[in-house]
Amino acid sequence: MNRTTDDAASPLQELRDDRLAAAGVRLLLKRDDLLHPTVPGNKWRKLLPNLAEARAAGQDTLLTFGGAYSNHLRATAAAGRESGLRTVGVVRGDELRGRPLNASLAQAADWGMEFDFIDRGTWRRRMSAEVLGELRRRHGPALVVPEGGSNAAGVRGCVPLGQELAGSGAEVVAVSVGTGGTLAGLAAGLAPQQRAIGFAALSHAPLDAETAALQVEAFGRRTSNWRIEEGYCFGGYGRSTRELVAFAEEFKAAHGIVLDLGYEAKALFGVFAELARGEFRPGTTVVAVLAG
Ligand SMILES: Cc1ncc(COP(=O)(O)O)c(C=O)c1O
Repeated sequence: MNRTTDDAASPLQELRDDRLAAAGVRLLLKRDDLLHPTVPGNKWRKLLPNLAEARAAGQDTLLTFGGAYSNHLRATAAAGRESGLRTVGVVRGDELRGRPLNASLAQAADWGMEFDFIDRGTWRRRMSAEVLGELRRRHGPALVVPEGGSNAAGVRGCVPLGQELAGSGAEVVAVSVGTGGTLAGLAAGLAPQQRAIGFAALSHAPLDAETAALQVEAFGRRTSNWRIEEGYCFGGYGRSTRELVAFAEEFKAAHGIVLDLGYEAKALFGVFAELARGEFRPGTTVVAVLAG
């Protein structure tokens, strides 16, 4: 990748809305979705330091994991192509081997990604020494990046996202949570008086524990300036409801912004629901991160 983290600051945009005006609350959107044309913002921030690490270690291959519709696999393929690194995507589900690729994987393949389809039992043990050893035997030496790009380097790559918000006047920063990596780094970069709320997009993981563990891995300690709200995950990853779809459609009509239903719509729905519950005092400035 040719860019550096220094020129990666994304714009802040104020949202005008009657519900906000009535509550006396300002809502600013942090447009991380505009950071890069093909790599979603959270992936950009997490992959950049991993690419640098691969280069520094003399590796020419990045090996990573994802489901058949993984944004992360596509993002890694795009990032690898841009930076001249070979990419291998290990995909959950050996039943997909030999079948035509879906549009998401076909795009990643066009960008040069090679695939390995593994069964679900092996998938569950994918970060074990045994499975990683076998993958390296099949694909050669590689820097291994976990799903979502959320390792210590990726988490540290999200610190500038918090730092960029230090002068925003925000007391609260909202972001959606998949693996917790973005929240872990963002929270570490915030100013002391700022706090973060992570809106869970998944229903099955112990997200608090995973986010805290990622902070410990990246910084040697966890910070206490964040919490995770699990009440707006709409059934979990990849799921949505008519209510969420209607919310995203209204949002698009009012503001001209298409929200990703898997993550961004859930976080913004959560922000408005928390607003209605009186979570934000009049005079509060809230930033919602669009991380896709
Ligand atoms: C739009 C968007 N927001 C937030 C996230 C959450 O990222 P993380 O896995 O770091 O929690 C993702 C992850 O894919 C995403 O695509």
